[in-house]
Amino acid sequence: MNFSKWVLCLGLLGCSVFVAHVEGLGVNWGTMATHELPPGTVVQMLKDNGIKKVKLFDADQYTLSALAGSNIEVMVAIPNDQLASMTSYERAKQWVQRNVTRYNFNGGVSIKYVAVGNEPFLSAYNGSFLNVTFPALQNIQNALNEVGVGDTVKATVPVNADVYNSPVSNPVPSAGRFRTDISDLMTQIVEFLAKNSAPLTVNIYPFLSLYGNDNFPIDYAFFDGATPVVDNGIQYTNVFDANFDTLVSALKAVGHGDMTLMVGEVGWPTDGDKNANIASAVRFYNGLMPRLAANTGTPLRPGYIEVYLFGLIDEDAKSIAPGSFERHWGIFRYDGQPKFPLDLSGQNQNKFLVAAKNVNYLPQQWCVLNPKANDLSKLGTNINYACTFADCTSLGYGSSCNSLDANGNASYAFNMYYQVQNQNPLSCNFEGLATVTTQNISQGTCNFIIQIAASPSSSLGPSLVALVLSAVFAFLFQ
Ligand SMILES: *[C@@H]1O[C@H](CO)[C@@H](O)[C@H](O)[C@H]1NC(C)=O
Ligand SMILES: *[C@@H]1O[C@H](CO)[C@@H](O)[C@H](O)[C@H]1NC(C)=O
Ligand SMILES: *[C@@H]1O[C@H](CO)[C@@H](O)[C@H](O)[C@H]1NC(C)=O
Ligand SMILES: *[C@@H]1O[C@H](CO)[C@@H](O)[C@H](O)[C@H]1NC(C)=O
Ligand SMILES: *[C@@H]1O[C@H](CO)[C@@H](O)[C@H](O)[C@H]1NC(C)=O
Repeated sequence: MNFSKWVLCLGLLGCSVFVAHVEGLGVNWGTMATHELPPGTVVQMLKDNGIKKVKLFDADQYTLSALAGSNIEVMVAIPNDQLASMTSYERAKQWVQRNVTRYNFNGGVSIKYVAVGNEPFLSAYNGSFLNVTFPALQNIQNALNEVGVGDTVKATVPVNADVYNSPVSNPVPSAGRFRTDISDLMTQIVEFLAKNSAPLTVNIYPFLSLYGNDNFPIDYAFFDGATPVVDNGIQYTNVFDANFDTLVSALKAVGHGDMTLMVGEVGWPTDGDKNANIASAVRFYNGLMPRLAANTGTPLRPGYIEVYLFGLIDEDAKSIAPGSFERHWGIFRYDGQPKFPLDLSGQNQNKFLVAAKNVNYLPQQWCVLNPKANDLSKLGTNINYACTFADCTSLGYGSSCNSLDANGNASYAFNMYYQVQNQNPLSCNFEGLATVTTQNISQGTCNFIIQIAASPSSSLGPSLVALVLSAVFAFLFQ
């Protein structure tokens, strides 16, 4: 224990009060789940773990009212499908009024950033948002400026790392340039951000470098030593640094090598692929967290970088178009239980995060293949049906439930559907193939879950009413 910490221990009534944390560490709070934890429960969980920054994917009023008074800094967001409407300045002003300035009062929400779109230039979107993102960005920042909060609230665009690259002939970070098709657009965006002292946000996924590329040198995805790639005398031993510095070079090439960069998403999934598992996630975070705590930065950008982990909680309703791992990015399970040891102080003490408190579960009952079922000819169609409406991604190759036999597969699918349907008795039938049991048939790494009980929506009401009232008072007495 070093001296400064020792002094703090004396000063703050015991060491447990003083928890060292990665400076400015944030997390992404996505809500694409069939059963969401109540926002108040999540905010308490953030506080219990000393997490002081959160990035959202919308500006949901229940989420924001739960964050009111918490002092947690917030990035709200405009989803891609709302970008087109923000090309109207009047609409952008309404958005800012409703979703930013409304919360700007003593005891309100500390909104720091507005994310304009989410990876809008992803190649997979076929250019759908190319024409609307920049006008939306301009309108939102101008609206923030006009209403007088532009100094403290910055609009940014979270881009995927596919907006830049280095040539195949010279694949080193220093050769980084913006993707040819959007080079002019990115340059305009960067110039606008610079003019407003706003950061550019980039999502970097070493896991995705590995996913679908069996030739990728696996050690390079982590931070614990790999054969270096040498670029202008700089040794790169991990793809995170190389990727980030490719962007720094792309910015330098358009005259903005000093632009502030934030990492909007970085993390490792725990299921749904052969490389998505607890051991790899632990290896990744045990490399990442000490670097963040030490403000290591990257070779071209040593020092503090604002970083948001992806993600906070598993989301069982996320699209799996990119891959089955999409539903397993959480550092917490669907129910707010930590999945693996993760030390936010960056000291890799083998300890778990603080779990969500007072979580209500459905009763301890599961839906399984009826052992007495004799006509199994309709099993396939019923499993397909269950897996269309529930999350079966843990059954796939390399996943936590892949070693189940055919009967286990059926039970797993039936149970996931039954839980998604809040254990409605009618949802555990499957043409007579299924039955309810109170026996926990989880086995090995495969967990047959019990879903959380839907939170009574009335519990959300009062805090929103209180928020609106306090906003009114703040307005009257300002
Ligand atoms: C505020 O944000 C919410 C949630 O993202 C969105 O549905 C709503 O349209 C926004 N309000 C305005 C006035 O644009
Ligand atoms: C993009 O184009 C591909 C190929 O034409 C198509 O399969 C895909 O659905 C398109 N995606 C979007 C988001 O439009
Ligand atoms: C974007 O604008 C260009 C030029 O005006 C046009 O050709 C293109 O179709 C537009 N793209 C979309 C997705 O609207
Ligand atoms: C169980 O389901 C998974 C995913 O659909 C499949 O890969 C596996 O082969 C199945 N196992 C058996 C024994 O049918
Ligand atoms: C079911 O059993 C598994 C493995 O033994 C355990 O991890 C899990 O907590 C149990 N589930 C419930 C709801 O008790």
